[in-house]
Amino acid sequence: ATVYVPRDSAARSVGADEVADAVAAAGRPVRVVRNGSRGMLWLEPLVEVETPAGRIAYGPVAPEDVEGLVAAGMLDGAADHPLCLGPTEDIDWLRDQTRVTFTRVGVVDPLSAGDYVAHGGLSGLRRALSLSPEQVVAEVTESGLRGRGGAGFPAGIKWKTVLEAGAELKFVCCNADEGDSGTFADRMLMEGDPFTLIEGMTIAAWAVGASEGYIYVRSEYPDAIATLRAAIGTAYDQGWLGKRVLDSELSFDLFVRVGGGAYICGEETSMLESLEGKRGMVRAKPPIPALEGLFGKPTVVNNVLTLGSVPMILADGPAAYADLGVGRSRGTQVFQLGGNIARGGIVETAFGITLGDLVERYGGGTRSGRPVRAVQVGGPLGAYLPTSRFDLPMDYEAFAAADAMVGHGGVVVFDDTVDMAGQARFAMEFCAAESCGKCTPCRVGAVRGVEVIDRIVAGVDRKKNLKVLGDLCDLMTEGSLCAMGGLTPMPVKSALAHFPDDFGTTTEEGR
Ligand code: NAI
Ligand code: SF4
Repeated sequence: ATVYVPRDSAARSVGADEVADAVAAAGRPVRVVRNGSRGMLWLEPLVEVETPAGRIAYGPVAPEDVEGLVAAGMLDGAADHPLCLGPTEDIDWLRDQTRVTFTRVGVVDPLSAGDYVAHGGLSGLRRALSLSPEQVVAEVTESGLRGRGGAGFPAGIKWKTVLEAGAELKFVCCNADEGDSGTFADRMLMEGDPFTLIEGMTIAAWAVGASEGYIYVRSEYPDAIATLRAAIGTAYDQGWLGKRVLDSELSFDLFVRVGGGAYICGEETSMLESLEGKRGMVRAKPPIPALEGLFGKPTVVNNVLTLGSVPMILADGPAAYADLGVGRSRGTQVFQLGGNIARGGIVETAFGITLGDLVERYGGGTRSGRPVRAVQVGGPLGAYLPTSRFDLPMDYEAFAAADAMVGHGGVVVFDDTVDMAGQARFAMEFCAAESCGKCTPCRVGAVRGVEVIDRIVAGVDRKKNLKVLGDLCDLMTEGSLCAMGGLTPMPVKSALAHFPDDFGTTTEEGR
């Protein structure tokens, strides 16, 4: 029998390695494949058994469950066990998703070149190499793909800028620093289907005329780093990287670089400084990295999910991708459900699904069983939203109109025990700790912000201090050099606007 047990680090953290060992020692010859995670994290370790009728899922499986499962016929896909979940593809949580970027995650052996090709891998790159760079850029533009790191800048326009920049040497850099709280999609793609990222970067290299690429991965992701390094080695062996990629005119070398743990190194110019071997400090823009990026050369900087979406866009054509979504938010987003949530994990679906659908239908409410009070969308710099905003569609523009942001797609849930003044204070504290120190509104403003919130909560000159906090937020928004200081007011102001009681104030004063 062929049995799948994820090697994803979320699955490993709850005992997947021990489960894999127990399955291998079950007494019958089995082939254990360590796949990526299907993204249903509350069911990990999820064990799947290959049968003529497709894969049958069991979960969550503890090592001590394995003996009983094998005795109940798990290795033949038998359903007579409380942990049997039936055919994996029929689990409604998974069935109702639209997996495009994550199409192979959890399905294939992440490091098997054969599996990759058998599941549609390389067809995007092959097609791209049969087109001119201009045509590839045009298709990416037509697809409507926007930067999945959070800012949502159109990928095609960025690529066109790099393509048209005259330079001998150009780079493609993948931002895999994934520092946002409650986000893990970059990691799961790198661990579960690394060749997709490699293929996306190689397509980008062809499209803009780059010869070298770097993946900047945070040091907190040792499994992703090891998987990427192994996958890059295989890609060279297969002729997917290096000189004359797939016998084409393209030569492209790809390297992994590991960050040192600073949140600010996820800001693109800071990341470039770090890649150059310097301390991660933000550079003033302009010049934009597309024109003067790594070592001053034209550089594509994109997030893992942006680059990871490109192979499917090239393989299936831009219209298939653009057909999904709403308004100017085209295609799919890989939403990540976390925090106090019953069913946390990955939901890849077209833009336009409501926040409430994500939290309630997929997430199943809180893990504590208490009512949901607030949801933070878009990482530590994103807005806190109350349940009355559950009607909001996941759409860059709709969120912006609600003074919130979709960001990298992280959704963190809090129940009714949360203290929102404490969360607002934490936003300022986080900014004070992670500020690169280059500009005053952020470096000093964040420290003053903590103090002002403390005074408001203590009831000291509340009205006056609310005004000071409002002015400080405006100053940070307008005067900061980058999104760190510029967006920290978002969680603070949203907490104040939606949950004024926690600050001992009223909605009117809070505004
Ligand atoms: P930005 O709006 O300044 O830039 C977006 C991208 O477009 C950049 O790559 C920029 O170089 C590029 N760009 C702008 N104008 C261009 C032009 N004319 N031609 C070509 N390229 C151009 O936003 P920024 O500061 O890069 O990102 C802020 C976002 O980062 C926030 O909205 C937040 O959601 C997100 N973020 C994500 C985190 C994560 O862990 N994924 C962590 C923290 C923030
Ligand atoms: Fe550095 Fe903060 Fe200024 Fe950004 S806003 S450049 S992190 S000091």
